[in-house]
Amino acid sequence: MTPRTKGIRTSKLVNEIQPSGIRKFFDLASSMDNIISLGVGEPDFITPWSVREACISSLERGYTAYTANAGMLELRVEISNYLKKQFQLPYDPKNEIIVTVGASEALDIALRAIVDPGDEVIVVEPTFVSYAPLVTLAGGKPVSVGTSVEANFRLMPEQLRAAITPMTKAIMVSFPNNPTGSTMNYDELEAIAKIVEEYDLLVISDEIYAEMTYDGNHASIANIPGMRERTIIISGFSKAFAMTGWRLGFVIAPSDITSAMLKIHQYTMMCASTMAQHAAIEALQNGMDDVGKMVQSYKQRRNYFVKSFDEIGLPCHVPGGAFYAFPSIKNTGLTSDQFAEQLLLTERVAVVPGHVFGSGGEGHIRCSYATSLDNLKEAVTRIDRFINTLK
Ligand SMILES: Cc1ncc(COP(=O)(O)O)c(C=O)c1O
Repeated sequence: MTPRTKGIRTSKLVNEIQPSGIRKFFDLASSMDNIISLGVGEPDFITPWSVREACISSLERGYTAYTANAGMLELRVEISNYLKKQFQLPYDPKNEIIVTVGASEALDIALRAIVDPGDEVIVVEPTFVSYAPLVTLAGGKPVSVGTSVEANFRLMPEQLRAAITPMTKAIMVSFPNNPTGSTMNYDELEAIAKIVEEYDLLVISDEIYAEMTYDGNHASIANIPGMRERTIIISGFSKAFAMTGWRLGFVIAPSDITSAMLKIHQYTMMCASTMAQHAAIEALQNGMDDVGKMVQSYKQRRNYFVKSFDEIGLPCHVPGGAFYAFPSIKNTGLTSDQFAEQLLLTERVAVVPGHVFGSGGEGHIRCSYATSLDNLKEAVTRIDRFINTLK
């Protein structure tokens, strides 16, 4: 047995991972005045009033105790109805759905439920910053597969095939994607599903931006015949319902995987917040009109923003979903770090350098359009002025 290294107090796994690149950058921005922030990954809307009211009423009625570990059955039934109606995904509320503390917890318990030490998990990048660190924390090895603007940031079947080894256990995908806004349609996912089946893999599919699909309908990989049995879907209330601060998400999977996830959830969280669960029931029962209005507004902003980037000379592929634009800054000759830092210091616009989202992200910046059209217009003016100083 190798002896313990004396004096080192934190675990090797934790020492291996880096703090989030987004936070590091925004600590700098938060110390400055007159900033236009395109950096935050959260809605600029306040949670619809009736949802807030349901939370207040929950407190007034004295619902201050734990709920069932998997979440209130009434809420799971609503989630099940919602999934069937919106995405044609049939799931049993009793043993295939767990209400979690944000989609973040859902990602964590999904990975910990399936990964054994040394297992490889393919992470399709650029993507949300937590995936690779969560794989590491679960004892697995993240294997990055980059996508490119030329492929509209979609996962190409041959790339997936090339990354698979005998140790590969699962792949993590997220469409609509953060940071690229890219989406994949049913046929494209079908080509991926074939390989997943061939190699007997699992899929963790983060579909938290599903409602924000602007062109056509959202397709889930679980919709493809044979895939429901190998897919864990991550979702939640943060984005579509403008509920980031409520910390409420859900995870859905076949019952053997759900019961494994429930063990971890039981020991670490017990259950999600009771008043937030009451609010979520109201959100699903009566909040869909509000979701529709917010999504319309994001679509309008997307159209304006993408066109403006192209006009000022930062080519931007059209994001089919989520609320991020991911324009190329390659023409400027700067790295994404240099671009983001100089733009912040000279024009006070905060964006996120593309490289923090992993392979394929360098040469781009992530700009969230979950902010008012006026702010977007001012940001475009400032970015245009900044790039003109580089010429
Ligand atoms: C793709 C993706 N998954 C999960 C999350 C986390 O969501 P939650 O706030 O519900 O934990 C985010 C937040 O930005 C995200 O972009």
